[in-house]
Amino acid sequence: MLVSIVGTRPNLIKLAPIVRAARKDNLEHHIIHTGQHYDYELSQVFFEELELPPPDTYLKVGSGSDGYQIGETIHRVTKTLQRLKKPAFILVYGDTNATAGAALGARKCGFKVGHIESGIRTGDYLFPEEINRVISETCSDVLFAPTKSTYENVRSTGRAVLSGDCMFDTLLWAEPRLDQKLLSEFDLTPREYCLVTMHRGMNVDKPSILRRILKALEDTGEHFLFPVHPRTKKTLEKLQVPSSIQVTPPLGYFAFLSLMKYSKKVITDSGGAQKEAYAFGIPSVILLHVPVWQELVEVGWNLPVSNEPDKIRQAILEFWPRGKRPPIFGDGRAGDKILQTLHQEYDKLLSG
Ligand code: UD1
Ligand code: UDP
Repeated sequence: MLVSIVGTRPNLIKLAPIVRAARKDNLEHHIIHTGQHYDYELSQVFFEELELPPPDTYLKVGSGSDGYQIGETIHRVTKTLQRLKKPAFILVYGDTNATAGAALGARKCGFKVGHIESGIRTGDYLFPEEINRVISETCSDVLFAPTKSTYENVRSTGRAVLSGDCMFDTLLWAEPRLDQKLLSEFDLTPREYCLVTMHRGMNVDKPSILRRILKALEDTGEHFLFPVHPRTKKTLEKLQVPSSIQVTPPLGYFAFLSLMKYSKKVITDSGGAQKEAYAFGIPSVILLHVPVWQELVEVGWNLPVSNEPDKIRQAILEFWPRGKRPPIFGDGRAGDKILQTLHQEYDKLLSG
């Protein structure tokens, strides 16, 4: 059987193409949710919209320090996997604490592991995600790299496969379900607003830094739609939000993509949102000092500005990329390619 271990919003979006590919193959697919994200808007809504089966096992790890989340995930994943009655291949997704804990737990129990979205490198170990990437890759037998440059980063391991990007698969699947009419619910006009998301500690944990970013946005005179991640909400509640910044709770996937598709610009520190904006041809101003997707900076569609107010203001007013958008993230069939690779190499585990 195949076992997928997920825990967060972006993990679920990456899981969706694997669910569809496993269904096509009539493969038994067991889903373990670690419970790192538990709010309806960060978890259940994705099961509903992406047509995912409910998790077979829910581990309720919840919130806490990186050490707590990774430690508890290892512990609870280990206990769950040891109870499996059949041989299994384990898939883990992305770079969250759920991913690193799951990969370590599975490996320690002696399972074969595949890591989806392998090979991203920013070189900045102050980001918990960078450590999670290295842990997850080290514990994995197959590294599914989404793009050419991520593949090059892990090629020398001899375990890398260039699969294409699962989030891009999901976006293409979702596109016919997007709806411009939704803009009227938010009183928005196409191309007359920018979409903002932020949830990285460096941008949102200190009120003084978040205030500075909001002020930089306000100074541009643009209108912003800002779906707020729960981590950001805690700090935002201490601040006065400028009236040009329209705040909403986290959006469902179809609503988020619909509102992105008709926006003027995306301002974000999200790894996923950067890719989605590229797919729609929307310029992205990146609130990070090192980009997650180097290719997007090279083709000119992403501009990293960190959280420096002058750079943020200037980018929002003046960054208008016009270059080509080569197909960096594959052809929308990463899920099928991943399953094909697993059948070739691990068919006994999958069908056992
Ligand atoms: C995590 C990932 C990050 C990913 C992001 C996607 C790590 C280290 N970080 O960050 O890589 O980009 O998810 O969204 O794994 N909270 C709620 N409800 C929830 C979940 C969280 O209120 O359902 C609050 C809690 O106060 C929690 C805080 O948000 O302490 C942060 O949540 P956590 O899962 O630790 O990290 P994220 O910032 O979501
Ligand atoms: N997303 C969403 N609603 C929101 C914000 C984000 O549906 O309000 C989706 C969006 O598709 C994005 C994905 O969640 O790409 C993951 O976003 P997040 O920023 O949480 O995680 P990251 O990709 O940075 O790890």
